[in-house]
Amino acid sequence: MTNTHATKVFDNSKGHEKFFKDDEIIVSKTDLKGRITYANRIFLDIADYSEREVLGQPHSIIRHPDMPRCIFKLLWDRISSGREIFAYVVNRTKFGDHYWVYAHVTPSFDVHGNILSYHSNRRVPDRQVVTEKIIPLYAKLLEAERSHKNGKEGLAASAKLLESVLADIGLAYDEFIATLGHERAHSTAA
Ligand SMILES: Cc1cc2nc3c(=O)[nH]c(=O)nc-3n(C[C@H](O)[C@H](O)[C@H](O)COP(=O)(O)O)c2cc1C
Repeated sequence: MTNTHATKVFDNSKGHEKFFKDDEIIVSKTDLKGRITYANRIFLDIADYSEREVLGQPHSIIRHPDMPRCIFKLLWDRISSGREIFAYVVNRTKFGDHYWVYAHVTPSFDVHGNILSYHSNRRVPDRQVVTEKIIPLYAKLLEAERSHKNGKEGLAASAKLLESVLADIGLAYDEFIATLGHERAHSTAA
């Protein structure tokens, strides 16, 4: 998979890329079904929504069609079983623009350990990681997904591909993400 193909998947015909500042954090909270219960000002500003427009809406309101479904499956499998996840995500604004984030999504628990809600903090992702690693990977996953007319089969195909990509490099998903983070720290220091 070349970057040329990947660039086509995330091309400008689907709007322009928006950016937020390195010291900003995009925050949202949801109920157990993923309906938005809180969004901070930075979330609203970059996504071009008012608070009123997002509260009570499913978080998929900002879903970008070029995000592979297997990443969201992994996200929900993780958080609904009480674990956290880090993921690179491209989101779509109200007007069809897009913005990349490095997201941490985690459950919030009550004193008995029951999951009460979910919470996500997102920071500016490392551009080089997005361009060189994530866009090509997601393009491959999307291609696998779209090669099936049936949504369930498409999801199974991209989930299997993700598994085999990770198996090829000998890393679990979390290790893979952590390795990318290490590269970021390395390149920043250089
Ligand atoms: C706390 C939390 C934050 C989320 N953040 C995003 C997000 O920024 N972008 C996104 O597309 N989906 C996000 N999701 C996942 C969505 O709930 C949804 O699974 C995803 O948009 C895919 O939509 P679909 O399941 O309808 O295909 C988040 C979920 C939770 C619980």
